[in-house]
Amino acid sequence: MPRKIAAGNWKMNGLQSTLAELQTLEAKHGDADIAILICPPFTLISACEDTPFDIGGQDCHTNEAGAHTGDISAEMLADVGASYVLVGHSERRTDHGETDAQVAAKSQAAYDAGLIAVICIGETLNEREDGTTLDVIDAQLAGSVPDTADALNTVIAYEPVWAIGTGKVPTTDQIAEVHAHMRARLQDRFADGDEFSLLYGGSVKGSNAANIFAVPHVDGALVGGASLTAADFSPIIAALE
Ligand code: G3P
Repeated sequence: MPRKIAAGNWKMNGLQSTLAELQTLEAKHGDADIAILICPPFTLISACEDTPFDIGGQDCHTNEAGAHTGDISAEMLADVGASYVLVGHSERRTDHGETDAQVAAKSQAAYDAGLIAVICIGETLNEREDGTTLDVIDAQLAGSVPDTADALNTVIAYEPVWAIGTGKVPTTDQIAEVHAHMRARLQDRFADGDEFSLLYGGSVKGSNAANIFAVPHVDGALVGGASLTAADFSPIIAALE
């Protein structure tokens, strides 16, 4: 069975005072059977070392070390207690021009440092309206997921770009179609393809989480805005537990 994961991507949000939210979350979900992953900004990772939750970075460099001002390596993330890293988030692909090849290289860097890569893929609104969603998914899976991936070192997050931070959520049929497709492609390519955790991301809230989690091959969520407070994130975790 794929592992159930409730993941929060804080993006460029969070100050030291924000960590109080984690304490509230810990009181409610500290003993959860599912994985709860928090991806704070780099500046807060060290400060999260006492939480019972898994901690992840939001990006890493393709290289182990070197002259890359402002960048963070996968080894550095592991060094301060992270066990996961997000790679290929659409905001990285758009804001920093990241390509599938770079995402694959970052995933490999994550594996080399002992981290689990959460590889993000998803179509734009134009691609959805053009009917090319599954082609985009195929290309991103082929290009962003290294041959060295397996169900232990990789999680796939399907995040339709048009659903991120917009309040627009695909229908459950649309989510089901993409997740079944991703599962089939992973099964074609990897011996343990049926074990990869597949997350849905994009405007997940407490009010829609249960419906989304009932979709076949949805093993959890990657949550942005609604992961910033315990009050918003807790009902999403509860829907997965
Ligand atoms: O990585 C999570 C994300 O992009 C979804 O953001 O705010 O729509 O939940 P949000």
